[in-house]
Amino acid sequence: MEKKYNLERYFEVIIEAGLYSRAERLKFHLEYLFKGIDFSGKRVLDIGGGSGKYSFYAPFKGAVETICIEPEDAGSSSGVISKFNELGSLLDVENVSIETTTFQDFDPGDRQFDIILLHNSINHLDEDACIDLHRDQGAQDIYQGLFDKLNGMATAGAILIVCDCSRNNFYPFIGFPNPIDPGIEWNKHQSPETWSNLLAISGFSKKSIRWSSLNPLGKVGRVLFGNKLMSYFTTSHFCLTLQNK
Ligand SMILES: C[S@@+](CC[C@H](N)C(=O)[O-])C[C@H]1O[C@@H](n2cnc3c(N)ncnc32)[C@H](O)[C@@H]1O
Repeated sequence: MEKKYNLERYFEVIIEAGLYSRAERLKFHLEYLFKGIDFSGKRVLDIGGGSGKYSFYAPFKGAVETICIEPEDAGSSSGVISKFNELGSLLDVENVSIETTTFQDFDPGDRQFDIILLHNSINHLDEDACIDLHRDQGAQDIYQGLFDKLNGMATAGAILIVCDCSRNNFYPFIGFPNPIDPGIEWNKHQSPETWSNLLAISGFSKKSIRWSSLNPLGKVGRVLFGNKLMSYFTTSHFCLTLQNK
């Protein structure tokens, strides 16, 4: 018999695990992140998925299989793999698994995915190459290789969601730490346009670039801050959605 997943249980477990402050804020964020995306019957790949906050959402929305690639590498906090396993037991889901390897070493076999997520991880895949990506052919070749590999595991029409901070932000421009997130290493980021142009060469065409707002401000924040200009003065965080041909 088909297993029924209760979404409220997902929110309860994620909040109790300390992975988000409040359920309604997380709901708001997930609705933004996956706007217009239907998980029913889909296979999902979450690259650099950390402790699986997004991987575990997928079955609760109807995905049939989710694989999270998480090597505990650059940009990670230690213990995320054990946290992932803990969440798996608490949520009692059967169709979400983790591959504790890098994307570079991940062997998909003949598996293909309909929804692919790179949430705050694209720049960590190869940080050294990411630094020079906007101006260096060698760096572009490295990422092109990764994106070609990604394309090989994407179904026709697959949706790719890429979220990260852009390189361009007011505070580093004037030489100050960003007051919202002082730890961001801006030189290890790239603009959504840079990512989108490279991904286009590997067969992913751009559907939209959205600019994230300050989540605790909810809908009002979305109206005021969810655009490129205001984002430049906050975190420059974007959500780029693309589609495989
Ligand atoms: C900033 S964390 C983002 C975690 C999660 N996606 C989130 O948004 O909460 C970046 C993740 O990328 C992972 N990572 C780094 N290098 C990677 C690689 N080569 N392949 C796959 N994942 C990688 C890190 O281990 C880390 O968990």
